Amino acid sequence: MNFSNKISDLEKNHLFRTRRIAKSAQGTNMKIDGQDVVNFCSNDYLSLANHPRIKEALINGVKKYGAGSGASHLVSGHSEAHKLLEETLAEFTGQENALLFSSGYSANLGIFSALRDEINWAIQDKLNHASLIDGQRLIGLPMQRYLHNNLKSLDKKIKKQTGPGLVVTDNVFSMDGDQANISGIAKMIDKKNTMFMQDDAHGFGIFEPIIPRHSIYMATLGKAAGVMGAFVSGDNDFIEFLIQKSRPYTYTTALPPNLCHAIQKSLDLIKQGEQKEKLTNNITHFKSMSNQLGLNFEESNSAIQPLIVGSSSKALKISNSLFDKGFFVNAIRPPTVPPKTARLRFTLSANHKTEQIDALLEWVNDVMA
Ligand SMILES: Cc1ncc(COP(=O)(O)O)c(C=O)c1O
Repeated sequence: MNFSNKISDLEKNHLFRTRRIAKSAQGTNMKIDGQDVVNFCSNDYLSLANHPRIKEALINGVKKYGAGSGASHLVSGHSEAHKLLEETLAEFTGQENALLFSSGYSANLGIFSALRDEINWAIQDKLNHASLIDGQRLIGLPMQRYLHNNLKSLDKKIKKQTGPGLVVTDNVFSMDGDQANISGIAKMIDKKNTMFMQDDAHGFGIFEPIIPRHSIYMATLGKAAGVMGAFVSGDNDFIEFLIQKSRPYTYTTALPPNLCHAIQKSLDLIKQGEQKEKLTNNITHFKSMSNQLGLNFEESNSAIQPLIVGSSSKALKISNSLFDKGFFVNAIRPPTVPPKTARLRFTLSANHKTEQIDALLEWVNDVMA
């Protein structure tokens, strides 16, 4: 195997990934690769990752529970902190029960893994996250995808299926920022035969969730919630079934319980709503400024504001020149997004200042001219 050739090919096609190094905590102002930058590519939408009250809760969690969980949940790694957080998350989402996973990636794999012998088919939105696609691949079901956010296309596909199945969508699409029509999808599903699942990784904590009865809800705790991990909430029987049958749940070490302390505090802050209001104001301001400047951003009301530029080389060039001006914005390239739709994915956080957004967009306007 010649990995060096493979790497050269990626470089030639502007698809080689590099990792910039942060020397400060996650936030809107960071030191990255030795340079002070305003960070516009974090999923820390509510600016909670470095919040003093969450850090304090984490330290208290460490004092009580130590550093690690020591084992998987089904051995000796399940603590009172996990149990209490699951209860809080069930209440938060209005579902009967909730189950913690160590990441959104493993939660999505975990749901598919448990359903392996239960469903004959699964249909996904064309732009669903890679972890959902990988989940379906894991259990060997043929990939069936409906046109993005297109209920007619979904309906056509559902009508061709027989036996039990699953319909899955992202709630807020991770690289596009737009939202699925959750109620519309739920209405077209025959609940006797079909389960409905949504992945709300990018909406949790920001939008009021719409969770149809008897549906599966997955959200992550490392984005707006600012910490780490993920959870699935649903009916009691379904959650109990996951505990029994989900291999990515069973065969992995439990999240450190100290993190559960931090997440509880984060949920308190989310409920208070102050950070959400700041984020919402920033989204409104960003959209109005970019419209005034005539910048061609995609239609999105979420914290994710993409600017599609087409080629990977152009996306990289713009990202690098913004970095030189002190703004960190990632270039998102295939295979993360479809071919010829490379983009700058701008993300907003609660703690961005209006002046920072204005300065960023002025530079984007200059760079794009
Ligand atoms: C829609 C969606 N689902 C799941 C995940 C995976 O979550 P995690 O980062 O917690 O593994 C992501 C991560 O970016 C995502 O965007």
